[in-house]
Amino acid sequence: MYVLGIETTCDETAASVVRDGHEILSNVISSQIELHMPFGGVVPELACRRHAEIIIPIIHQALHEAKVSLNEIDLIGVAQGPGLIGALLVGINAAKGLALGLDRPLVGVNHVEAHLYASLMPQLNAVPLPALGIVLSGGHTALVEVRDIGAYHLIGATLDDAIGEAFDKVATLLGLSYPGGPKIEQLAKEGDPQRYPFKGGKVKGRPLDFSFSGLKTNVLYTVRQEKEAEKKDVAASFQRAAFEDVLEKALVASKMFECKSLLFGGGVTSSQTLRALFHHRAAHLPQFWPPSGLSLDNAAMIAGLAFQLYTRSKESAPFSLSPQPRMKPF
Ligand code: KG4
Ligand code: ZN
Repeated sequence: MYVLGIETTCDETAASVVRDGHEILSNVISSQIELHMPFGGVVPELACRRHAEIIIPIIHQALHEAKVSLNEIDLIGVAQGPGLIGALLVGINAAKGLALGLDRPLVGVNHVEAHLYASLMPQLNAVPLPALGIVLSGGHTALVEVRDIGAYHLIGATLDDAIGEAFDKVATLLGLSYPGGPKIEQLAKEGDPQRYPFKGGKVKGRPLDFSFSGLKTNVLYTVRQEKEAEKKDVAASFQRAAFEDVLEKALVASKMFECKSLLFGGGVTSSQTLRALFHHRAAHLPQFWPPSGLSLDNAAMIAGLAFQLYTRSKESAPFSLSPQPRMKPF
């Protein structure tokens, strides 16, 4: 079964053709980084306009690279949320138009759930379940018990900033450009992670929830007060604090819920520093990380999950399918 996936939740316009939920035939991603860079973050109106301009060429390119014609597509999967409403509308309307024109079923997919599916995709049957799902992206931070595709139990989430958002904001404080995560990782390589005693936020009575706004404020005061504050040490210390917080909570959660493996998803999980930390300190658990090209926003994960949902339900979404900017994944 050939599935065309479409992803336009935020600032990447992406389309992909995936066969049978796991074989990626094409994975085309057009990033808008340079468009939003001067503003230090994503400007929704600009994002929607860019999606509208390039969505059709990107779909064409995905079909071309996959060597699959539009007529051979069996199913259309589209990210339905969470995300920017105008951005979602572009992808959803393109998907509806194709489903209607080709007379093929349509499936709306949760973008955050798809981030976790990205790590399941290459080795679906090799992942010991229940797994602890660890979602770390620009919009979400969550620990979830994954019993099966579609069977999740939310264990912990952030009460304020998402971890990727914290990286982006700290990067701005340090004068680094958007998106900040990779730049902080780069700068931190030369820095001393113990120089500043930053710590991840503790939430009273909720030990498995996250809070990154205090950590971010600590960084702000440090940068302001200590004029000589070495940016590379601030970056390294912040990164250490954020990642150790995730590691410690993940270790507690995996024990508490008797998880047999760790399943990672979201843009922040492309960090090599994070991967090294987990390989070192959680070596007793099998770990499944998104393969290259599937950490950051992409449409292959959307197509893959759409296949799984459709083969289970055999149901096409109605044409009233509408964007869900705050769609809950778990
Ligand atoms: O999953 P994603 O592509 O988009 C959302 O669904 O939000 O994640 C993007 C986020 C950005 O906040 C970016 O700064 C962060 O992932 N990120 C990183 C790294 N690479 C990307 N954060 C920390 N370290 C990295 N190496
Ligand atoms: Zn994402």
